[in-house]
Amino acid sequence: MSKALKLFTSDRQDIMEDYISFEANSCADDMIKKYGSVPGSILDDIELCTLRVTYQLLYGQGEDVGEKAETVRAANEGFNRFADSSAIDVMPWLRYLMPGKIKQLMNVIINVNNIQVEKVNERYGTFNPDTIRDMTDAILASIRNGESGQDSSVFSKQRLTFALTDLLVAGFAPTSNYLMWMLLYIVAYPDVQEKIHKEIDAVVKGRKVSLKDKKALPYIEAVFLEAGRIVTQTPFGVPHFTIMDAKIGGYDVDKDTVVLMNFYSAHYDKEYWGDPECFRPDRFLDNNGKLDAEKCSRCIPFGIGRRSCIGEKQAKLHVFLSFATMLQKCEFIKAPGEDLALSPILGLIYSPKEFRVLVKERI
Ligand code: HEM
Repeated sequence: MSKALKLFTSDRQDIMEDYISFEANSCADDMIKKYGSVPGSILDDIELCTLRVTYQLLYGQGEDVGEKAETVRAANEGFNRFADSSAIDVMPWLRYLMPGKIKQLMNVIINVNNIQVEKVNERYGTFNPDTIRDMTDAILASIRNGESGQDSSVFSKQRLTFALTDLLVAGFAPTSNYLMWMLLYIVAYPDVQEKIHKEIDAVVKGRKVSLKDKKALPYIEAVFLEAGRIVTQTPFGVPHFTIMDAKIGGYDVDKDTVVLMNFYSAHYDKEYWGDPECFRPDRFLDNNGKLDAEKCSRCIPFGIGRRSCIGEKQAKLHVFLSFATMLQKCEFIKAPGEDLALSPILGLIYSPKEFRVLVKERI
């Protein structure tokens, strides 16, 4: 799976760039039309824009997620609600007493999985190892070459289906959520938005933003990092499990122990950050306006170590290009009388509360 992801974030990055650039540009145009003079919530627009890119990466250019978007969104909501405050999460035996809760979750997983079943069946018939069209082909190719480290007969259709479900849900939801947080913060901090506009105008000068511009736009990177730090959208990441006795930070941890990492504590360490509660992107820049490598390494929204986020590179490129493209075209303004809440809705992924904005055209 990681090989397939790598292909589209390195050698064939241009494919991903085209999808993101196209979808982010159309989304920006739509938002200007819809919310240019009447404020509204941009959540559906951002979610659909992110989902359309993710879906095309998995299944090829022009593949329209269409009405399946609702199924994927429902699955995302189902996961999030389940992880919100479910007692089953910490006392798994409760599933026998509360079967309804598990059934609900299983149903949304089955629904989203069915999208993949249909696609995988179709793909087994048309796969050609000489023409890798998308991530599904790339995963299939690596299975056939034995690169998954498994006997290809063991890597069944069902496992490919689950892998694609993982990439679809785990890929779309945190990416779109991250974008929403960045947009909320720049609406709440118009001075930050103004600096972003100035940086884009000075560097990009009216042509379309591209992934090649990323290095020359350090302030946007600083905003990305600061939003990731202050929000910490998955404060404990995902649960890990020790497969042998281990030592972590000097402590003995027995085999078969569930281990959670506390990313929140790393991001809110007062001794290191000084004012962790403040949204201050400049903290990631040195006196010359360049990114401070040491500070950047302390910001870990994708986790750390061998089981950190498998989609980190893809997500960084996706969020950067979507955000920069939208900011080049639009100014996001708080709706008159709107009270912006920066505290999250709790869940597996912390998400922003609904907010309404005006979206004005810039160029
Ligand atoms: C901005 C977007 C994203 C954020 C902030 C994010 C964050 C994370 C975090 C914090 C973890 C847990 C790491 C840990 O506990 O150590 C994780 C795991 C994971 N992420 Fe992401 N992620 C994002 C996008 C993506 C994308 C685009 C994909 C797929 C294409 C993806 C696939 C996964 C998978 C499969 C795991 C489980 C990895 C494992 O257990 O080995 N994520 N992500």
